[in-house]
Amino acid sequence: MADLDDIREGKDFGLDRPADLQGFFLKGAANHDWGLKNRLSRIFNPKTGRTVMLAFDHGYFQGPATGLERIDLSILPLCDYADVLMCTRGVLRATVPPSNTKPVALRCSGGNSILSELSNETIAVDIEDAIRLGVCAMAAQVYIGAEFEHKSITNVVKLIDTGTRYGIPTLAVTGVGKDMARDAKYFGLATRIAAELGAHYVKTYFVEEGFEKVAAGCPVPLVIAGGKKLPERDALEMAYKAIDQGAAGVDMGRNIFQSDAPVAMIQAVAKVVHDLEKPDQAYQYYLDLKAAQG
Ligand code: 5RP
Repeated sequence: MADLDDIREGKDFGLDRPADLQGFFLKGAANHDWGLKNRLSRIFNPKTGRTVMLAFDHGYFQGPATGLERIDLSILPLCDYADVLMCTRGVLRATVPPSNTKPVALRCSGGNSILSELSNETIAVDIEDAIRLGVCAMAAQVYIGAEFEHKSITNVVKLIDTGTRYGIPTLAVTGVGKDMARDAKYFGLATRIAAELGAHYVKTYFVEEGFEKVAAGCPVPLVIAGGKKLPERDALEMAYKAIDQGAAGVDMGRNIFQSDAPVAMIQAVAKVVHDLEKPDQAYQYYLDLKAAQG
């Protein structure tokens, strides 16, 4: 019987003992079916176990945000350097050439806007269309603690159920509304709930204090969103710390496409994610590429 009596905060995250991968390279994925594992292996590089997802789905509630006014001009030149493209079906069909062979993580929730309550989302894509588009993952927000928490959880559960039927993983995105906490306690709660419900991997935000416990307490891979635009070196340092503390990659948007040199920045982020390049070296790499690209 679930109750709220005597809820004790987790203490032993076994930070000195990595999770047992049970024969598959990704945490928590050993017991999935072949198709699901195959799609996860296209999202996460089997050599490093990590991924650089390029997120440009922001328009689904923000409209033509800075850097995404013309996706054909700003985003398509970056695609070769990403492991995965994360976008809506509208942009995929309208802008991304079908000859693209990068795996797609499809934004499948919507129904809100920056003018309304963010947590009030619905599933905005039918599974048939996701299959028709050949996507490698479906994504929806979970808004833990928000006004429409239950509805957002229901959305993700439906995606997990339908996606699992067809071997398509679900990425649960921990949404943060205007007044929601952004600390390890909150993200530890939200990411764990998403994984317990069956999400195949989870997107969260990096926090300076306690991220290691957020990652250790989540039994499936975590990727971090970049969040608001930071100076390039700071964004690279954030990515480094997240990977070093247990994240399996990034799902980064603004810190790449709003950079002064987006093509250089995405390559520097990939250096951090896949080669664990230290922030100073990765930043120098960014500067060198930026200079070379003119
Ligand atoms: C929008 C999203 C974005 O994909 C996510 O926030 C990543 O983008 P950014 O790095 O710009 O935060 O989920 O709701």
